[in-house]
Amino acid sequence: MVSSSAQLIFFCFFILFSAVATTATDHIVGANKGWNPGINYTHWANNHTFYVGDFISFRYQKTQYSVFEVNQTGYENCTTDGAVGNWTSGKDFIPLNKAKRYYFIGGNGQCFNGMKVTVLVHHLPPPPTSATVAANVKASDSAAPLVFP
Ligand SMILES: *[C@@H]1O[C@H](CO)[C@@H](O)[C@H](O)[C@H]1NC(C)=O
Ligand SMILES: *[C@@H]1O[C@H](CO)[C@@H](O)[C@H](O)[C@H]1NC(C)=O
Ligand SMILES: *[C@@H]1O[C@H](CO)[C@@H](O)[C@H](O)[C@H]1NC(C)=O
Ligand SMILES: *[C@@H]1O[C@H](CO)[C@@H](O)[C@H](O)[C@H]1NC(C)=O
Ligand SMILES: *[C@@H]1O[C@H](CO)[C@@H](O)[C@H](O)[C@H]1NC(C)=O
Repeated sequence: MVSSSAQLIFFCFFILFSAVATTATDHIVGANKGWNPGINYTHWANNHTFYVGDFISFRYQKTQYSVFEVNQTGYENCTTDGAVGNWTSGKDFIPLNKAKRYYFIGGNGQCFNGMKVTVLVHHLPPPPTSATVAANVKASDSAAPLVFP
């Protein structure tokens, strides 16, 4: 027979784990299509909500493609001049640490073939203070924007 305080501790860990799992999502660019030419990544980005602390990950053939973080000009003009960062591992996990718009493009002119994606990263919703709030946050993960009174 499990004591009620043991149950309570287990319950608290469960809530904590739920909250952590909710706040650190890894967004795989293009889902099962990965980072490749000829894909409209605007569709993909529109179907995800990004929060500070999430990751964006790019999966691709490292002998063919790459990833550059650029600014808005670089994104629109497909130029890597003045790039903020670059990745070439073929399986890159990039932390989204700031609430801002990020721009990523493919190198070697692949940006012109559609390898470009921009994501808007939001501030985290206020931390959950009760089981009810935690459940709400988790349930609305992929739904409409959260509105807190
Ligand atoms: C990609 O999809 C977005 C949103 O559905 C659309 O506005 C845009 O024109 C598309 N871009 C291309 C190059 O097809
Ligand atoms: C949007 O994302 C959900 C869950 O990740 C997925 O089931 C759905 O197929 C996606 N829709 C589109 C149009 O990509
Ligand atoms: C980006 O392209 C626009 C026109 O498409 C041009 O006016 C602008 O100078 C370009 N910016 C850079 C930094 O090359
Ligand atoms: C982007 O970076 C380039 C090169 O550093 C710079 O010329 C350009 O003004 C920047 N554009 C924006 C919108 O910050
Ligand atoms: C990639 O980033 C490194 C530093 O992180 C830099 O030294 C290098 O010049 C960059 N490469 C390109 C092609 O921008």
